[in-house]
Amino acid sequence: MRILVLGSGAREHAIILALRAEESSHEIFAAPGNAGIAQDATVVDLDQNDPAAVTTFANERGVDLVVIGPEAPLVAGVADALRERGIPVFGPGKAAAQLEGSKAFAKRIMDAAGVPTGRALRATTLAEVEAAIDDLGAPYVVKADGLAAGKGVIVTSDRADALAHAATYLPIGPVLIEEFLDGPEVSLFFVSDGDRVLPLSPAQDYKRLGDGDAGPNTGGMGAYSPLPWLADLFGDEDTFVHHVTVEVAEPVIRQLDAEGTPFIGLLYAGLILTHQGIKVIEFNARFGDPETQVVLPRLVDPLSGLLLAAASGTLETHPRPSFSDEVAVTVVLASEGYPEAPVTGRALSGLDAAASVPDVHIAHAATAVGADGLVATGGRVLNVVAVGSSFGEARDRVYRAIDEIVLDGSQHRTDIAARVVEG
Ligand code: AMP
Ligand code: GLY
Repeated sequence: MRILVLGSGAREHAIILALRAEESSHEIFAAPGNAGIAQDATVVDLDQNDPAAVTTFANERGVDLVVIGPEAPLVAGVADALRERGIPVFGPGKAAAQLEGSKAFAKRIMDAAGVPTGRALRATTLAEVEAAIDDLGAPYVVKADGLAAGKGVIVTSDRADALAHAATYLPIGPVLIEEFLDGPEVSLFFVSDGDRVLPLSPAQDYKRLGDGDAGPNTGGMGAYSPLPWLADLFGDEDTFVHHVTVEVAEPVIRQLDAEGTPFIGLLYAGLILTHQGIKVIEFNARFGDPETQVVLPRLVDPLSGLLLAAASGTLETHPRPSFSDEVAVTVVLASEGYPEAPVTGRALSGLDAAASVPDVHIAHAATAVGADGLVATGGRVLNVVAVGSSFGEARDRVYRAIDEIVLDGSQHRTDIAARVVEG
């Protein structure tokens, strides 16, 4: 199959590695890619956010499937343009992608679909913000509408900090004040063809920068899959997955379809397991990063067949994806200064030694080849991923590997999956 993958992060590298790991020998194009992706795909000079350019490329090269990794091309209408030309694309159109981009849109869909979520109040002035935070009480959750990737969100018990945060974002647009939801977080992905959904395996992301969940929110500093503790709460993982499928994913997909904006692509449900039940904190319209890096290495069935079935509306006859019993852990290596002001351009080495640790691989996020070798070009630089038969083993491997990597001033968490190490 000829596949074009749009995006340049570790998520896209993970998608490409999963496609490569299949039996078939695909021809894979990537844009804009990165230095790691270039080792596993043909990087092409193409503006991922230009619907006409992407459509022309896909047509000229006879691409069988386009997989859209990040949100930006979705919002730019790249999927709409491809679909109009009859090119199979995994990723929702602009209208359905608002499920991620507009928190107000997401809340409306959830209300209409009867999906459990926290209460939220919309505010456009500081006075409205004050009234809302006093109504909902501490801890305060303040979110800028329309901003993704954990940016623009503050969770704090300090009223002054909450107000200051709102004041920062009010000039840009409305803010949402949300009820604080207390409990463990789960990321669960669904592949949707607009009509039906198939669940993938649950994962947990570590959003905060520092060990013990200290420091600012980030795009995600590590992840693991599966979540063995779900069995303690629900009897088994499958009961949980079934519940979220029926109570969350299916009603949302049906609602979007009924509104004439079918969702074809990856529905990412960000959930909190509260004492009052499972609630949605957010939806994303794309694969999660870094969760994808631990979910896809465990996927047993070919990824291309699954994504193509979703893109062409034939999920009904596709079997539910199955996952290996092996566990996966990923740790993000970030640049100094991430997330506020990452220092870029520094030399990066030791990747071969890291990848030689058994059952370890590296997904590149922000790397380029400089005059003297690899350089880091962004905040989250790469993901070290390890699989193993236990979390103890996978953690041991991932941290042995990350110790081999040299990047001045780099940061990583040391407690990824520590809470699930058996015994
Ligand atoms: P979001 O951008 O909506 O995913 O928010 C980023 C992170 O902030 C989430 O992953 C949670 O850890 C936290 N968060 C967001 N909303 C809430 C909420 N209502 N209650 C508790 N924590 C939240
Ligand atoms: N890991 C969080 C996200 O992809 O938005």
